[in-house]
Amino acid sequence: MKARTVYICQNCGATSARWIGRCPVCGEWGTFAEERQERNGNRSDRPGTPSPQPIALSEVDAHVIERIRTGIGEIDRVTGGGFVPGSLVLLTGDPGIGKSTLLLQVCAHLTHSSPLYISGEESLEQLRLRACRLKPSPQNLLVLAETELESVENAITRSPTPVVIVDSVQTLYSSELESPAGSVTQVREAAARLQRIAKQTGKVIVLVGHVTKEGMIAGPKVLEHVVDTVLQFDGEVPYAYRVLRALKNRFGPTDELGFFEMTAEGLRELSNPSALFLSEGTVSESGVTIAVVLQGTRPLLVEVQALVTPSSYTVPQRSITGYDYRRLQMIMAVLERRLGIGLRQYDLFANVVGGLRLEDPALDAALALAIVSSHRDRSLPPSTAVFGELGLTGELRPVRLPELRVREAQRLGIRRLVLPKSSAEAFSGSIPNIDLVAVDRLSLALTHLFP
Ligand code: TYD
Ligand code: MG
Repeated sequence: MKARTVYICQNCGATSARWIGRCPVCGEWGTFAEERQERNGNRSDRPGTPSPQPIALSEVDAHVIERIRTGIGEIDRVTGGGFVPGSLVLLTGDPGIGKSTLLLQVCAHLTHSSPLYISGEESLEQLRLRACRLKPSPQNLLVLAETELESVENAITRSPTPVVIVDSVQTLYSSELESPAGSVTQVREAAARLQRIAKQTGKVIVLVGHVTKEGMIAGPKVLEHVVDTVLQFDGEVPYAYRVLRALKNRFGPTDELGFFEMTAEGLRELSNPSALFLSEGTVSESGVTIAVVLQGTRPLLVEVQALVTPSSYTVPQRSITGYDYRRLQMIMAVLERRLGIGLRQYDLFANVVGGLRLEDPALDAALALAIVSSHRDRSLPPSTAVFGELGLTGELRPVRLPELRVREAQRLGIRRLVLPKSSAEAFSGSIPNIDLVAVDRLSLALTHLFP
């Protein structure tokens, strides 16, 4: 085995022969650290090892794989129906966000298969104490406190269980490598070897990976291409809710969100999350609108706020949290040019309530109306919601799955819903107790809402 010294970016895994201050790939400063890399001889160095032979694709046995449902609806939704046997899943998130709790709860639900939980982070006593707090508490769980990669590999191969949790990848180290635990070399080696074991044994291996912003510990980014699925668990600190999403999914969607709430008894599923994103009491103020957005296939009502205020700077301030800044600029340009609403002298602050980051362009119309409402200091009529993408001529463009949105709005007691005309025409049949204001231009929505 030959060893050489290289410098590896601990954020993205880029390598360099010499130390550099700023990573040319991810742009981060001070992330390069020295690591020793061992190079094994290749197959031709080992006489007697047969080369594998290709076979016809049609001869490959492609039976329908049965997924392992976790029984936790929000996780099954995000993964696309449960974990796929033989896959390596990475669960990432900030330290303390609830990754270990979530996975212990998955174990509690997998009652028929006694999963194996390998912990390098916590002692078995700590694990047991935590498990006792959870409802339901895991019953048939096998636990092992281990950090040496070779022992972990043995334990996984020998165990009959179809589901293995490894918490966390940063604690694993292979004694065959010289680099310290948590370095890019170690973390990559661990993931690559566990990936092989998952494929060979048909087990699901879930790896926990902490997101590390500072400090010289390799982050999950360097693993994204090694694993089959990357699940991200995050939440905004002042709120108890947590959001699970798939950043990469070889076997399912990447646009579904799973909502949870952290309680004293562990994470609770939030199957009705809309209520989270509507704040009490502010909806009747100026500058506030309710948007009906889609996250994957789930409609969600969110409150959008805007504050337009005279600027005391030569260059007015503009900021938005929870939505694309460029879309905000586009919306402001449309308001200026197409609707004659002068905003040049004003600062503008906009916010999606509850800390969600949204990408659905259907939010455009709600944001535009919130800006106009704040600018005119007039509130929207009560129980009004809106969705629609704004085009550059000021037209309201159709969006995905309008009927689903209308039904969600109606379910949550919205009385009046402004939507693009073409979206309203896309579904037939009447929806009771909701007044649909179908318009093809934003200006018509304004005339209707601010007569
Ligand atoms: P944890 O799962 O340890 O986070 P991670 O594995 O991502 O580092 O969760 C830690 C936090 O969750 C901790 O601050 C305590 C809190 N918590 C609860 O509020 N309720 C519970 O039932 C549990 C187990 C943890
Ligand atoms: Mg943990």
